[in-house]
Amino acid sequence: MAIAARLPPISDGELQKPTSRIHPFDTSNYGKLQLNNGLALTPQMGWNSWNFFACNINETVIKETADALVSSGLADLGYNYVNIDDCWSSLTRNTKGELVPDPKTFPSGIKDLADYVHNKGLKLGIYSDAGVFTCQVRPGSLYHENADADIFASWGVDYLKYDNCYNLGIKPEKRYPPMREALNSSGRTIFYSLCEWGVDNPALWASKVGNSWRTTDDISDSWVSMTTIADLNDKWASYAGPGGWNDPDMLEVGNGGMSYVEYRAHFSIWALMKAPLLIGCDVRNMTSETLEILSNEEVISVNQDPLGVQGRKVSVEGKDGCSQVWAGPLSKNRLVVALWNRCSEAVTITSKLETLGLDATATFSVRNLWKHETLAENVSGTLGAQVDVHDCKMYILSPTCSHAIS
Ligand code: GLA
Repeated sequence: MAIAARLPPISDGELQKPTSRIHPFDTSNYGKLQLNNGLALTPQMGWNSWNFFACNINETVIKETADALVSSGLADLGYNYVNIDDCWSSLTRNTKGELVPDPKTFPSGIKDLADYVHNKGLKLGIYSDAGVFTCQVRPGSLYHENADADIFASWGVDYLKYDNCYNLGIKPEKRYPPMREALNSSGRTIFYSLCEWGVDNPALWASKVGNSWRTTDDISDSWVSMTTIADLNDKWASYAGPGGWNDPDMLEVGNGGMSYVEYRAHFSIWALMKAPLLIGCDVRNMTSETLEILSNEEVISVNQDPLGVQGRKVSVEGKDGCSQVWAGPLSKNRLVVALWNRCSEAVTITSKLETLGLDATATFSVRNLWKHETLAENVSGTLGAQVDVHDCKMYILSPTCSHAIS
């Protein structure tokens, strides 16, 4: 959706009066404050309703999704946030000015849902907007930050995705910190996911505000969208780290618009980029191929590596740079390398280990993360393989002699 289409069609006069304890735009301290909630030491993992369900959500879908995350084994692999996106709330606040769950679709309320999800060992996420309405024109939280954070906390919510629609043209740097303060003082530890679509280069300022920040407009379930977004997110690699991550948007794996190898590449590159791994398909009805991709423990462990450094595109060759090498350092002096074929035919992709920052005289064991095989124990010089159209081969290189990563 074009950003212009999300600008507010309303005037200031229609705003409700602030209900906050402090004026949300008393920003005198914001530059000095931090989120400091102790979360996001590695990128968040879980599920979100938007990519598959859009507004067609209800409490049964959310409960069945929590059930499926557990029964499929995905929860055990770390996918623990069950995140409700837009359209959970009524079109208006109640007479006390409080947000109210839609009585038709969430008749038991969000607290009941949080209890259900918590009983499964999972966490519940919710959605609001740093504007006067959400993108689907439900009430937004601008000027209601404290009241809304308090009600989310009272319901037992663990995660807030905070969107950017109907924002009155106020800069995000002013609209996002008030919710950080409100969450900090809500009495509950709540993950704070900023969704301002990269419009004001959030990587430059959001690490003090949230646990992750969207770097791009919305992903769609296509090869062109996924590759474009990967490139846009790559630019901000050096700003990610434990506590705060670049967010190139949620996974489309399993939604039908890309091939098996394209989804495998999508998952590989998101993992390598230390992107949030938020599943966006209907996990109640996944194919075995979808489950196989999402549950590749070796690829997940790249994403969740404690070193927390975002991997990046390190070299390109071929027409329009379609033959690509992406790589990033991991803990224990290891390196993850992805050979990604974005060309229209099969290609051989090679990389000198020196180009990857490795000592040319050292040797490495090479583990193929999709084949689950250790290919060789003493590779040196170059790494290379033939890669099918749009596929991505992914390896971990571990030093087999000392001082391997310079
Ligand atoms: C925006 C966000 C999406 C989704 C929708 C919901 O487009 O970027 O991720 O939350 O709003 O309306």
